[in-house]
Amino acid sequence: MRAVLVDPSVEGGLRLGEAPDPEPRPDQVLVRAQHLALNYGDLNGAKSRPAGFIPGWDASGVVVRAASSGNGPAEGARVVTTMGTQAGWAELRAVDLDELAVVPADIDLAAASTLPIAGVTALRALTRSGALLGRRVLVTGASGGVGRFAVQLAALGGAHVIASVGSVARGEGLRELGATEVAVGLEGVTSPIHVVIDNVGGPQLAAAWRLLGENGVIQCIGTTSGQEASFASLVGMRRSIEAFTKGPRSGADLEFLLRLLQAGRLQVDIGWRGSWTRITEAGAALFGRQVAGKAVLDVD
Ligand SMILES: NC(=O)c1ccc[n+]([C@@H]2O[C@H](COP(=O)([O-])OP(=O)(O)OC[C@H]3O[C@@H](n4cnc5c(N)ncnc54)[C@H](OP(=O)(O)O)[C@@H]3O)[C@@H](O)[C@H]2O)c1
Repeated sequence: MRAVLVDPSVEGGLRLGEAPDPEPRPDQVLVRAQHLALNYGDLNGAKSRPAGFIPGWDASGVVVRAASSGNGPAEGARVVTTMGTQAGWAELRAVDLDELAVVPADIDLAAASTLPIAGVTALRALTRSGALLGRRVLVTGASGGVGRFAVQLAALGGAHVIASVGSVARGEGLRELGATEVAVGLEGVTSPIHVVIDNVGGPQLAAAWRLLGENGVIQCIGTTSGQEASFASLVGMRRSIEAFTKGPRSGADLEFLLRLLQAGRLQVDIGWRGSWTRITEAGAALFGRQVAGKAVLDVD
């Protein structure tokens, strides 16, 4: 089969090549991928992988072989999938039954492909933060994949959402998604903040800490800034910083997000789309902060 392979000798470090077909275990389905969704994390992680490694977590497509255990979706089912600890931007992928969801016929498969890492991360980070009704939720890196889902889900939960972005242009469309305020960095953001969904890290994380109200919590999702955070003191009123990891078994959360999509209560913004032969270009756009929302590759 064709697959995206790590190749440190080429620009961007990724190219299309050939790899052996995966052999599913009895509790896995074999899926032919139609759309691959890029995440900052899988692209960044690919940089430290050896030549020939197949990176990538998220894809949607069609089941071409049902699980031999007899469980899970039948051959021909449209599914959205993620790969857990394995990786797989390839034509074929063997997927655990609890890392997929069946995509209703009226939902676009390309849109569905964006949900697993970004959507489920946003959902789980917000759920972990307690009730949102009437609370002030700050989302940093709000223009990106996790960020755009977090803005929408926090607004759905009844929060006053403050979307933080890198420039005025990067804030476009966020009010329409449910942000009450859009800030460049933390300019003009006032205390108290009750929940922070932090995708950026570094000095902005430390500044967000200073805005946090009593019993507030920061969910540390990512350090996209690549910078360290330094805190003069953590002594004082009770509030917390939590390390976050999305974790496995995304299936039930994917079903929930698909229901929101179907009901028109959640929107997927695909800011870059093209053939998977353009993986280098797509990766450069994502790292260059030029993608509003998600980048999706079509397996053609
Ligand atoms: N812990 C977990 O389980 C988990 C799960 C999913 C994602 N993550 C992490 O969460 C982060 C967001 O992921 P994503 O897929 O949403 O990424 P993304 O789509 O690339 O979005 C990241 C956003 O961060 C901002 N950003 C990028 N570079 C920056 C920089 N140098 N300084 C400040 N801001 C910068 C950009 O917004 P502006 O251009 O507006 O500044 C961008 O929209 C990543 O670090 C990823 O690895 C972690």
